[in-house]
Amino acid sequence: MKAIAQRTYGEARVLELTDVPKPVPRPGEVLLEVRAAGVDMGVWHVMAGRPYLGRLAFGLFKPHQPVRGMEVAGVVAAVGDQVTEFRPGDRVFGTGKGTFAEFSTAAPKRLARIPENVGFAQAAVSAISGVTALQALRAAPDAATVLVIGAGGGVGSFAVQMAKARGMRVTGVCSTGKVEFVRGLGADEVVDYTRSAPGEDLGGGTYDLILDIAGNRPLSVLRGALHPHGTLVIVGGEGGTSFFGGMSRNMVAAARSSRKGQRFTGLLSRTNARDLAELADAMADGRLVPAVDTAYPLAEAVRAVEHLRSGRAHGKVVLIPNAGSGA
Ligand SMILES: NC(=O)c1ccc[n+]([C@@H]2O[C@H](COP(=O)([O-])OP(=O)(O)OC[C@H]3O[C@@H](n4cnc5c(N)ncnc54)[C@H](OP(=O)(O)O)[C@@H]3O)[C@@H](O)[C@H]2O)c1
Repeated sequence: MKAIAQRTYGEARVLELTDVPKPVPRPGEVLLEVRAAGVDMGVWHVMAGRPYLGRLAFGLFKPHQPVRGMEVAGVVAAVGDQVTEFRPGDRVFGTGKGTFAEFSTAAPKRLARIPENVGFAQAAVSAISGVTALQALRAAPDAATVLVIGAGGGVGSFAVQMAKARGMRVTGVCSTGKVEFVRGLGADEVVDYTRSAPGEDLGGGTYDLILDIAGNRPLSVLRGALHPHGTLVIVGGEGGTSFFGGMSRNMVAAARSSRKGQRFTGLLSRTNARDLAELADAMADGRLVPAVDTAYPLAEAVRAVEHLRSGRAHGKVVLIPNAGSGA
């Protein structure tokens, strides 16, 4: 089958369209015919082998698993022994192993059914970015106001819609070119951070919840924008040292959290069937409409990853292995 694989760590040019054996589902796994694969920042981290800490898990000199991709939507082609949750023909989405390919395997506990009225591309891009937004919002279930920093990107475009659907007052922070997009997602206010001085670009309010997805402001600035009893969730950020990356910020934030006052917490999202089903329900009834910026054919994976990495995508980028198969 065709797949996008890499032989060494590096930037997107290490990705190659190649022929690899079709995977065989092990007991407890399903085989998926991939109809769409979301391109998320985790793909970039594994591809680049950065931060270096990640290489302890992914492989010291090259990734153990050469085929890239995690977010997936597709059709169950076969099931391994002991799989009772799904049957061949089911339309499912979630996370799988090496999803930038015509076929991939996945564990049922990381999959859910796609509602009939939802397409493969929109389902695929939800599996990590949507679940991350959902789990981040859960950090403060009673929050009435939320500030979403990085509102125009993959995770942010989900967070804005999902916070709005929960009845929260949403302020989104993004660059000029994404202001109308973020407003269209439902944000009550949109702050264009390029038009304000650093430190004064968070809308001037105090928020019950801040989701820091962009991750490039000092904690002291975030503290100033947070209600005295508010919650800050460090979701992302591409800064930090080359060894720890954004993890170092999580550790500093946790150390500065106060039990009685402001709470700082990091997030390491994990896709699971229950959260996927919650997203599926929201997509089915139109509360959530995943924003897909561009769909690329599988052969253009390099461009797709470069597009994500440029930070220009309005929402998500997706790969389609067999264009014409109705993603
Ligand atoms: N914790 C977890 O489990 C988890 C899960 C998934 C992703 N992540 C992390 O979350 C981060 C974002 O992922 P993503 O998929 O949403 O990436 P993305 O699609 O590139 O979105 C990031 C957004 O941040 C915006 N941004 C950049 N600088 C900014 C600034 N100074 N102020 C406000 N916004 C700024 C970018 O656009 P503009 O500058 O044009 O507005 C972009 O839209 C990554 O670091 C990723 O690794 C973490």
